[in-house]
Amino acid sequence: MSQQEQVTLSIDGRTVRVPRGTSILEAARTVGISIPHYCYHPGLRAVGSCRMCLVEIEKMPKLQPSCAIAVSEGMAVRTESPEILRNRRAVLELLLLNHPLDCPVCDQAGECELQNYYMEHGAYDPRFNENKTKRKKVAPIGPHVMLDQERCILCTRCVRFTQEITRTGELGVIERGHRSEIDILPGIELNNPYSGNVVDICPVGALTDRDFRFQCRVWFLGRTPSVCPGCSRGCNIEIHYNERFNPRYHDKRVHRLKPRYNKDVNGFWMCDEGRYAYHAIDAPNRLTSPEMLQGETWRAVTWDDAVRETAAALRETIERHGVAAIAVLASPQMTNEELFRLRQLYRDHLRIGDIEYRVPNRAQVYSDDFLITADKNPNSRGAEVLGLAGRGTAAILEDCAAGRIRFLHVCHHDLERGYETERIRAALGRVDFVLFQGSWDHPTAQLAHVRLPTAVYAEKQGTFTNLNGRVQRIHAAVPPPGEALPDLEVLDAIAAALGLPAAPASASEVFIEMAKTVEPFAGMTYGTVGSSGQNLR
Ligand code: FES
Repeated sequence: MSQQEQVTLSIDGRTVRVPRGTSILEAARTVGISIPHYCYHPGLRAVGSCRMCLVEIEKMPKLQPSCAIAVSEGMAVRTESPEILRNRRAVLELLLLNHPLDCPVCDQAGECELQNYYMEHGAYDPRFNENKTKRKKVAPIGPHVMLDQERCILCTRCVRFTQEITRTGELGVIERGHRSEIDILPGIELNNPYSGNVVDICPVGALTDRDFRFQCRVWFLGRTPSVCPGCSRGCNIEIHYNERFNPRYHDKRVHRLKPRYNKDVNGFWMCDEGRYAYHAIDAPNRLTSPEMLQGETWRAVTWDDAVRETAAALRETIERHGVAAIAVLASPQMTNEELFRLRQLYRDHLRIGDIEYRVPNRAQVYSDDFLITADKNPNSRGAEVLGLAGRGTAAILEDCAAGRIRFLHVCHHDLERGYETERIRAALGRVDFVLFQGSWDHPTAQLAHVRLPTAVYAEKQGTFTNLNGRVQRIHAAVPPPGEALPDLEVLDAIAAALGLPAAPASASEVFIEMAKTVEPFAGMTYGTVGSSGQNLR
């Protein structure tokens, strides 16, 4: 019998049609009925242990776990009878026997399922007046996760995550009966590349994020859907940013990243490497104003001055040495729209063909067969599809060192990641004019003549194309710092200073233009890409 065969049943009197094999809990979700649950998580094996999701099924004498029972033809389910509500109250009363009432100081407050369900279904007249059991509190169990055993309700989601998803098995249920508790196994710590996910799936405050703890109350966080820029997988994420950010308090603007479900890319998960890379957004070495090198020092200038200087250098190079003396290092950190605009500016308008996006990475990088890829760029595929693979960065650097390249436009790259410092200095030192466009100050940015500060992924609109050719949207969660601008606007400013025809202003308009002229993007719009992406043709 095919998994896709449809089954019809009724839930609370509503007719529901779902594929055979679907659990009652998931079937109810399809018609907007949310059945309270703790141990169930759609990305993990159902174990039916917490008993919070019990429902009535016609012809069955007892309440049944909706998370663990699959729908069948003609089934009639009730989710809100007096007996069900009595069961939920009893489960909550049991779970709260030993759960500390430290909600005011608990990091999970505001997104705690114990709190939320208790508000809806709690007994409000607890009969338990013994002392609560004391267990381990504030116990770091790995580089990213803190355990509070008193708050744990033994749903075992975290244990199953380490068994089924990472297959590392660091966590287990220790002891039996009322002594049962979650802990790391002796002599090891929770230190796998995906450990932060256990915090996401913990329904209470037992597992908290050491990076996020006590940084910001969750109700002050705004949420913007985006895509992780940490590697070419393009995991779907939510950027949680501080809606009450005030620079006077030296606060962070972005407080955390959370995985966003996409069945075709990352499922429910993301890696720690991507999760904690958000610190770079507010790093002290962000470039925040256009700068020109004067003698040995950088001087902040206006955008007009910086762009005018750049355009004049470009024009002069073309007039005196021809377009062959100009090279461009595009970046796979840029969006499809920005790369398309870069291509339009240099290849279509100025007839400069020497564009390359690939710079090798000398560092040892981690990758695996789950989510993490060796390419630490979000848009290498987009750059490739846009035809920005050239003769290689090494060849361009050689020509720089030989004095054949007189104008070099470097987008984002820190070339020292790929080549020895001396080689970079010797090459860029011979170029008459090095333009650096990027977000952070680093050794390559230091070798430029003009630096143009740009927005990072969390500060702009656009799309990335992941390694499998899935085009996915990013959105601005916070504005760029200082005078930094999205790359698109920087390129438009350079084009305007050169007197080139005006181009579409917004990322969505550039995307439409790109879809008209670049075959793999044909027919796409931001609407068709939607929130979960669309594959290239
Ligand atoms: Fe169904 Fe726990 S969610 S028994």
